[in-house]
Amino acid sequence: MTASGHKKKSTSTSSIWGGRFSGGQDELMIAVNASIDYDQRLYEQDINGSQAHAEMLAAQGIISASDADSITKGLEVIRDEIRQGDFVFSHALEDIHMNIETRLKEIIGEPAGRLHTARSRNDQVATDLRLWVRQQCDDIDTALTALQQALMDQAEQHAATLMPGYTHLQTAQPVTFGHHLMAYVEMLGRDRGRFADARKRMNESPLGAAALAGTSFPIDRHMTAKALGFDAPMANSMDAVSARDFAMEYLAAAAITATHLSRLAEEIVFWSSDRFGFIRLSDAFSTGSSIMPQKRNPDAAELVRAKPGRITGALITMLTVVKGLPMTYCKDMQEDKEPVFDATDHLGIAIAVMEGMIRDMTVFPKVMAEALASGFATATDLADWIVAHLNVPFRDAHHITGQVVALAEHKNKRLDELTLDELQSVHDGLTAETLAVLDPAASVASRQSYGGTAPDQVKAAIKAARKRFS
Ligand code: ARG
Repeated sequence: MTASGHKKKSTSTSSIWGGRFSGGQDELMIAVNASIDYDQRLYEQDINGSQAHAEMLAAQGIISASDADSITKGLEVIRDEIRQGDFVFSHALEDIHMNIETRLKEIIGEPAGRLHTARSRNDQVATDLRLWVRQQCDDIDTALTALQQALMDQAEQHAATLMPGYTHLQTAQPVTFGHHLMAYVEMLGRDRGRFADARKRMNESPLGAAALAGTSFPIDRHMTAKALGFDAPMANSMDAVSARDFAMEYLAAAAITATHLSRLAEEIVFWSSDRFGFIRLSDAFSTGSSIMPQKRNPDAAELVRAKPGRITGALITMLTVVKGLPMTYCKDMQEDKEPVFDATDHLGIAIAVMEGMIRDMTVFPKVMAEALASGFATATDLADWIVAHLNVPFRDAHHITGQVVALAEHKNKRLDELTLDELQSVHDGLTAETLAVLDPAASVASRQSYGGTAPDQVKAAIKAARKRFS
């Protein structure tokens, strides 16, 4: 559709707000204005909000109890129609609020016109989206808990499975696979905390703020807030209709979570590569190649790795849409919904897929141990031993150890393959006892500091995490 040269088509103007209009709307106006294609996802929240509002209006004597009753029942009919897929959505009716209200009029007649007393679409949409996002916070929490459990189950199996720990993706020190997985359990725990914080702050009701200034009707905002599970009504009517920081916080939490998932996804990609070979993904979470029969591709992990593109994008969209908007409601705010929906859909599938991959993967401890042995991973242990036994400052011990590593490299040997003679050619204080610290299992077992990788520390951490993250 282009503006130049298109034939202006007159369409009847909304019967809901059309009182002062005589001409029809341009087709383009309808196209730019309509949000019904996506905001229909708010129908449950919209109906719940309308029912709470109608009951409050009746309780306050603003409408009759029988009108409130037919409104509530009519809305239940509409809920069923939408659930069954029998509801016909109209672009000309712009959004979910007017689609439902117009249908309500068809079903119950005149009382439908009383529902919008002391309310505006401004407080209505703010309420709907808050309710929707609040529900997502709960659903994401459930999904993240399940993912944490999958990680903890694997961590328990591999609390003592040795692997190289990396910095700069260079072999650093021996760790256990269980310890590595538990790092993600902690990250996801903080992610859950961020959603919980956001949920707590967003749980105040905009309903009853009306267009922006409040209303002259004797409404009871505490009653509707309570009916909808909010902790309280929002204190300022102008803030209530124009605040979108609840969605920003939600998307910020989503973006951070997606970023964490992408880190794990990247590790899964290289752990499952044939160079690493640390794990194998199950058939259920792998794909083949249409041309290369040997391929076993980690597409699911790669897609999870990609998700921050759109989820962080959604956060940036939200921040940018609201930036510079004056008080109070502006139609720009209609563009708050698609990023929220898109981020939610993609985060949801990313968490679920990650859980599936983690639960199903096969771990190859032998390959991990082999990688560990070839990477001089116990060099720090040797330096520590020198400090503890030879009364040498750590910086000097570091230097001596560097010479031992250089010798091993030169001889094409692993550290634990060096003979006592070879060790003593670097420093005559090195003894047979020194050789023992070059063993990765001994190294890991010695990391007994709280939060360290010693298998009994890891087991204790898992036990504590199961309590904290239930
Ligand atoms: N569809 C609108 C939105 O999503 C509803 C609020 C419309 N309010 C208005 N004053 N036009 O933001």
